[in-house]
Amino acid sequence: MDTREELVKLAEIKPELAELVREALEALDRSESQSEIEGVRVALLGKKGHITEIFKHLSDVPVEDRPDIGRIANMLRGYVEAELDRKNEELKESQVADREKRLALDVTLPGRREPTGHKHLLTQVIEEVTAAFISLGYFVETGPEAELDYYNFEALNTPAYHPARSLLDTFYISKSDPDKNSPSDVLLRTHTSPVQVRVMESRKPPLYVISPGKAYRREAIDATHTAMFYQVEGFAVDRGINMGHLKGTLEVVARRLFGSDRKVRFRPHFFPFTEPSAEVDVSCHACDGQGCALCKGVGWLEILGCGMIDPNVFEYVGYDPEEFTGFAFGMGVERIAMLKYGIEDIRLFYENDVRFLRQF
Ligand code: PHE
Repeated sequence: MDTREELVKLAEIKPELAELVREALEALDRSESQSEIEGVRVALLGKKGHITEIFKHLSDVPVEDRPDIGRIANMLRGYVEAELDRKNEELKESQVADREKRLALDVTLPGRREPTGHKHLLTQVIEEVTAAFISLGYFVETGPEAELDYYNFEALNTPAYHPARSLLDTFYISKSDPDKNSPSDVLLRTHTSPVQVRVMESRKPPLYVISPGKAYRREAIDATHTAMFYQVEGFAVDRGINMGHLKGTLEVVARRLFGSDRKVRFRPHFFPFTEPSAEVDVSCHACDGQGCALCKGVGWLEILGCGMIDPNVFEYVGYDPEEFTGFAFGMGVERIAMLKYGIEDIRLFYENDVRFLRQF
């Protein structure tokens, strides 16, 4: 017989005691939380607790009953104290176990993936174009964005009076005469072509150069214009370079960018620093040249401007135009990306909305 059963049995000799023991045991069984356990302790063993009261009034009990009642009350007190302590201990242990469970490493759970960034679409296109030319043996060169008038216009056969200057709305940083153009004016380059002059000026042919970078124009911003945009410039200067080399080179790149079945075509155009000049179209990759919404029914997409480097430019950098010839081209990176992915508004590139950026 364990203490509990013994207690119940012994208490049967006195109905008041039997009642108290039953209530005490019930209260013990019901108590689960720490506050319930403490409540039971106070109710039974506190200064005015039920068990305490028995001891206080033991002297009122008939002498012959005292030993039994005292013994049972003692036993009850001991049992209640031990039970309350045990319950407290149990509670503490289960709290520790809970906490450990919460902190435990569960190797069967799926891993938590940290969000990672990736390259901006424009960077991807720049790298794609650049890599295509590196594989053809080109070297990457860059030039300053704040540029001298001399490199941006003058030495590119675009002198002060040239009508092309008024076509390019320019951001000036410093100007010697507000009403006149001077080669020493500092401006934000309106294209990447000044890199041609800088490289040619400092080196001798053969030159095979690719030059990605930013350009600036005072544009009203809309779906196809931003005041800052990217270009990739490329040029080759060597003995015997002709337009066939230009066309073959651009075909390789167009196919790399838009798919192996693409064709390119040249349309006559004008640039002050190339002669002859052309605009290059690639057959539309969305409809295979049949005509669709992307190519506006034409079957062709304009992707860049190019031409044979004008002998006048060679004069500026001290090359003999009888000895060397060259070609040059410049493409708008945003435009290439828009055509490639059917993006209809250039401003999306610069709004940094991850819902847009994430798609590429
Ligand atoms: N610089 C020209 C532009 O910005 C593009 C170009 C580059 C044309 C090289 C011919 C040769 O429009």
